[in-house]
Amino acid sequence: MFRTHHCNELRKSHIGNTVTLVGWVNSNRDHAGVIFTDLRDREGVTQIVFKSDEHPEVAEMSHKLRQEDVIQIVGVVSERPEFNGQTTVNPNIDTGEVEVVVCELRVLNKADVLPFQLDKELSNEDLRMKYRYLDLRRPRLRENLRLRHRVTKAVRDHLDKNGFVEVETPVLSKSTPEGARDFLVPSRLSPGKFYALPQAPQQYKQLLMVAGVERYFQIARCFRDEDLRADRQPEFTQVDIEASFITQEDIFGLIEGILSQAFAKGIGVKIPRKFPRMTYQEAMDRFGVDRPDTRYGLEIVDLTEVFVGSKFGVFQRAAEGGGVVRAINAKGFAGITTGQVKRLEEVAKEAGAGGLAYIKVEGGEWKSPIVKFFGEAERAALQEKLKIEEGDLILFGCDKWEVVCNVLGRLRTEVCGMQGILEGNTDLNFLWVTDFPLLGYDAEEGRWGAVHHPFTRPKAEDVAFLEDEATFGKVRADAYDVVLNGVEIGGGSIRIHEQGLQARVFTILGISEEEQEANFSHILTAFRFGAPPHGGIALGLDRLVMLIAGESSIREVIAFPKNNKGVDLMSDSPAEVDFKQLRELYVKSTFQEKKKV
Ligand code: AMO
Ligand code: AMP
Repeated sequence: MFRTHHCNELRKSHIGNTVTLVGWVNSNRDHAGVIFTDLRDREGVTQIVFKSDEHPEVAEMSHKLRQEDVIQIVGVVSERPEFNGQTTVNPNIDTGEVEVVVCELRVLNKADVLPFQLDKELSNEDLRMKYRYLDLRRPRLRENLRLRHRVTKAVRDHLDKNGFVEVETPVLSKSTPEGARDFLVPSRLSPGKFYALPQAPQQYKQLLMVAGVERYFQIARCFRDEDLRADRQPEFTQVDIEASFITQEDIFGLIEGILSQAFAKGIGVKIPRKFPRMTYQEAMDRFGVDRPDTRYGLEIVDLTEVFVGSKFGVFQRAAEGGGVVRAINAKGFAGITTGQVKRLEEVAKEAGAGGLAYIKVEGGEWKSPIVKFFGEAERAALQEKLKIEEGDLILFGCDKWEVVCNVLGRLRTEVCGMQGILEGNTDLNFLWVTDFPLLGYDAEEGRWGAVHHPFTRPKAEDVAFLEDEATFGKVRADAYDVVLNGVEIGGGSIRIHEQGLQARVFTILGISEEEQEANFSHILTAFRFGAPPHGGIALGLDRLVMLIAGESSIREVIAFPKNNKGVDLMSDSPAEVDFKQLRELYVKSTFQEKKKV
């Protein structure tokens, strides 16, 4: 028997008991020849004491203990004594009223000097990743793993209760478009051919609906070769869901139930049972993004009408040329520093703006080079629409609608950060964003693409707009995202289940009949054999757990994540492989190291 108790269990009621504990040496303190050690296992910490007068040999051994040695001890639970007239009780740990006086010590394994201290925050993330197994010993990450377990279990239990069947779908599969690049796996048995790792189990889950499963789910690993960010990994996990004979309302109710279980079982927090809703159009108009953080205002105000006929050419041209003029009022931010203005200008330009016009309201005056162009009526309209007061900072955007949304949306986020608006905010603002457009025009590629994915259903009342390319942009989809505090935690849609409509959407997306035959014949054929109406959604499990844990990167809730370059620094993957291995796969690399000059 390795242990009688975990390191979080012993209390005053155990005093006098002989116990056996195992774990890691958390810290070692020498107080005038008496060694105090914190012994740690996954549940907690217990103070153990080596007394040379009672057990001299054991006490002698204890001098050689180093941090992170793995030890087993047998000892007697004792009350913490007074020292110099003061209590030595530690109220910060569960076992703080007792200590264990050690009579036997077994060193199970010694530890080398660690590459970093476990009890200090470490900013060098590369070092953390290289020794991830040590990083994971920290209480915060250890708790994140267990939180993830609880959340996953709560999700699974809730789906099970609602009649959903967990089905595994292939990882070695065929490319399915979700908007990222595929990871490819060369096939040895079919020379020259490749599997694609799934970006999502999208087509399989729809085929399961054709198969009559009716309610499917999967905690599914997905793979996307895209540029990485704090909330993106090349492999990540979805709670993937699909159901037949289901409406958008049903799906919303199901997800609200799942999330309420996840928060309750994860951290004991009660969330609203119904989430507010907003159309894509409204989200873009008011917040400049399709996943607005509604915990703060700084809303976008439309001023286009005000600047029709204006003497300020930049605004007048946008207002009269089919564009928009909009602004946000950063209340009380007229004291913005020059450096911060520079940063905002950069953000605006990165988002596609030609420049950044702004007004500071200071000493009763509107300070800006553009104000002199404004007429009385324009000033009055701005004053009224933006509710301008002393101390405000007004930031303008003028361009095409999409550009201005993007620019002001980004400025809004940046200003919120600069003003510290969300500091200490613990709100959980859930939101359904609905009625996404079906199609988006990709000017670079000169063609229409699916905003969600090609299997998404156009709204019945908008199908007629699919007749004419001029109205493609007007087609709305039965597609929805669930957003939490500005993070998209899930997205889905009601699907196309008719072969004819699916083929038509493929064609609009520029997928030729030959390509349809080559890449999608399985799904098009399946739709001919009695495909039920169906729809679904996928939650990003990593993102969800990140938010529940209060972390700002999904790497903190993934046991072995990749860094921003897609590298696992611990196992050093991706790695080079033998020529022989490549030859067996009929693969030859064309990569050439850049020659040093
Ligand atoms: P979508 O592409 O919106 O939809 O993905 C669903 C959710 O998965 C999460 N997610 C990611 N998380 C971490 N790293 C990534 N690289 C990453 N990419 C996406 C997000 C996102 O909301 N098949 C459809 C779902 C459906 O229609 O049912 C799909 O995959 O939280
Ligand atoms: P210009 O006439 O180019 O000197 O611009 C006059 C003011 O309008 C400057 O403050 C510019 O930064 C600003 N400006 C120019 N283009 C835009 C734009 N697309 N959106 C917001 N402000 C702009």
